[in-house]
Amino acid sequence: MTLQAVPEDRALPSDPSTPENPAVTGVPARGSGRAGDALVATASRLVSGGRGVLAADESPKTLTERFDALGIVSTAETRTRYRELLCSTPDLAESVSGVILHRETFLAVLPSGRAFPAFLEDLGLLAGVKVDTGTAPLPGHTPELVTEGLDGLAAEAAELRARGASFAKWRAVIAIGEGLPSRACLVANATALARYALACQVGGLVPIVEPEVLMDGGHDLERCAAVTEEVLTTVFAALRDLGVALEGMILKPSMVLPGKAGPAASVAAVAAATRTCYLRSVPAAVTGVALLSGGQGEERATTHLAEINRQGPLPWPVTFSFGRALQDSALATWRGSEDRVAEAQAVLHARATACAAAARAGMGQPVAL
Ligand code: 13P
Repeated sequence: MTLQAVPEDRALPSDPSTPENPAVTGVPARGSGRAGDALVATASRLVSGGRGVLAADESPKTLTERFDALGIVSTAETRTRYRELLCSTPDLAESVSGVILHRETFLAVLPSGRAFPAFLEDLGLLAGVKVDTGTAPLPGHTPELVTEGLDGLAAEAAELRARGASFAKWRAVIAIGEGLPSRACLVANATALARYALACQVGGLVPIVEPEVLMDGGHDLERCAAVTEEVLTTVFAALRDLGVALEGMILKPSMVLPGKAGPAASVAAVAAATRTCYLRSVPAAVTGVALLSGGQGEERATTHLAEINRQGPLPWPVTFSFGRALQDSALATWRGSEDRVAEAQAVLHARATACAAAARAGMGQPVAL
C-alpha cells in the first residue's frame, strides 16, 4: 500500500495545549489527531518495503534469564555486546528498518566511542526505545496487570528524540482465562497506551502501540479472536478520544492464536481469523501493523505472517516486529563466544530475510476494502 499524503491542515503539532498554538488550545477535539510529515515518514519507513522491526528491548532481568539458560555471563557489557552483534549483522537493513532497545542499550556507548543510536544510524537502522516501566497489578482486579511508566513521559520522549530515537514502544499484556479479561483491564491498558502514544507524538517519536493478548491458557482460536477484537476496538477508541494521529503510529498486535494448551488451529485458520479480527477493528488510516511473535517459535511465526499476507490485500502493510522469533537461534548460536559472532549473524540474517519475504508475500495487490 502506498501511504496517502496527509493533508496540510493536519500538519504537526507542537503540544496542542500550548498557548503558542491558539488554533488548538484547550482540550483537543475528540477524534484522530494530526501527524506531522516527519512522524508520518518515520512510521512509513518502519513498515514499508516488507521490512520489519527487530525487538531487542528485553529488560536486563529477562535477558539475564535467557543468558543464564545458555550459560552466558550477563553484565551490562555482555548485554550491549549482544545487541551490537545483532545490529551489525551484514545487510540487516535490507530486511530490518529499526531496532527497539531497552534504555540500558540506547544509552550505551560502544568501545568504538560511538553512542548506540549513532551506531544504528550508520547502519541505516532507526533507533526505538521501550519506554514503559513494566507491569503492575491492576488494583481490584487480581491477577490482571496494567502497564506503567507515564510519569514524566512527555519530557522523556522529547529527550529521547534529541538523543537520536525515532520511535518508542509500550507493551500492555492481556490474559485470557475464566472471566478474564475484565473490561476494567482493557480500559485501563487502552487508556495508558493512548496517553503514551500522545506523549510520544507530541515529543516527536512514532509510538508503537503494543496490546499483547497472551497465549497462556487452554482457550481456542475463536475465544482469542473475540478477545483480541475487543482489545483492539477499545485501544482505538482510546486513541481517538485522546487525539492520537493514526497516520503517525504503528500497531503491534498479537496474532489470533489458540492458547498454548488449547486445541490446535491450522495456519490457514490462524491467518483468516487474524485478518478478520484486524479488518474489523484497525482503522485503515493506521500506517502499519508490525506483529509480535508471542513465543510461537521462529518458523511458526514466520509462516503465519506469510499466510496472513498471502490470503489477500489488507489496508495496511503487515510486517514483523519479532523478539524471540528473530533472536532465539542467533542467541543460541552465539552463546557468548566471540568465535561464533559471524555464525550467529548469519543465522539472524537468514531469519530476518525469511520474515521480510513473509511480509512481502502480499505485495503488489490492490487494496480492496
Ligand atoms: P516477541 O516477538 O518475543 O513476543 O517479542 C516482541 C516484543 O516486543 C515483546 O514486547
